[in-house]
Amino acid sequence: MRMILVGPPGAGKGTQAARLLSTYEIPHISTGDMLRAAKKAGTEMGKKAAAFMDAGNLVPDEVVIGLVIDRIAEADCEEGFMLDGFPRTRPQAEALDTALTAAGVSLDVVLLIEVPDELIVERITGRRSDPATGTIYHLKFNPPPAALASKVVQRADDTEKACVARLKKYHSETAPIVPFYESKGLVRRVNGNAAPDVVTDRIKDVLSRN
Ligand code: AP5
Repeated sequence: MRMILVGPPGAGKGTQAARLLSTYEIPHISTGDMLRAAKKAGTEMGKKAAAFMDAGNLVPDEVVIGLVIDRIAEADCEEGFMLDGFPRTRPQAEALDTALTAAGVSLDVVLLIEVPDELIVERITGRRSDPATGTIYHLKFNPPPAALASKVVQRADDTEKACVARLKKYHSETAPIVPFYESKGLVRRVNGNAAPDVVTDRIKDVLSRN
């Protein structure tokens, strides 16, 4: 299965991807995770991306496109992949299309997780993750276990200011790719405004009918 997860910041893309991996045994490719790893490792690309990310801006297409196209050409993506956070702009969507056509394969589904804007800031500012495993928590909706409470960390771009900027970018740059995929009949919408388990069931139901 070749799948794209789309949705605003905090829609639950990372949370749901982790839950879907046991059912769909395909690599989870998160451009946010890849860029944060590059930033942490201090690579040239990571240094270049850091200022964009921390301010809630998109990293330039020319940085991100090559990263993903190279990744999906790897052997473990032969049977499929779950792209999370890519594509995020029309040029990224077109570059992906070109690469998949050249490889003689195509996308199966674009899963759009919809959550109202007014819920996003609370979800983002309350997010914490386990630095050792990457497991995502939320201070109110999914608190970390007591043993981890002092160890969980907050992302540098999870401030209210950066979150508002990311949401604005989502509406101006990313939401417009949805009609691009709708015209190909690939978009499946899921209401992400429910408990994570309920959202997982909704996604599995939608995918089982694909
Ligand atoms: P990225 O890491 O992709 O961030 P994002 O798209 O803003 O998405 P998030 O990771 O913030 O949210 P999510 O939907 O995964 O939500 P989560 O499951 O964690 O990108 C970061 C930055 O990298 C970008 O701003 C940009 O600078 C750069 N970048 C990345 N890709 C790029 C690209 N292609 N082009 C250019 N630049 C790029 O959930 C959020 C919180 O809510 C958690 O605390 C969770 O516990 C909680 N939660 C989840 N589901 C529920 C639920 N159902 N109910 C209650 N709480 C919930």
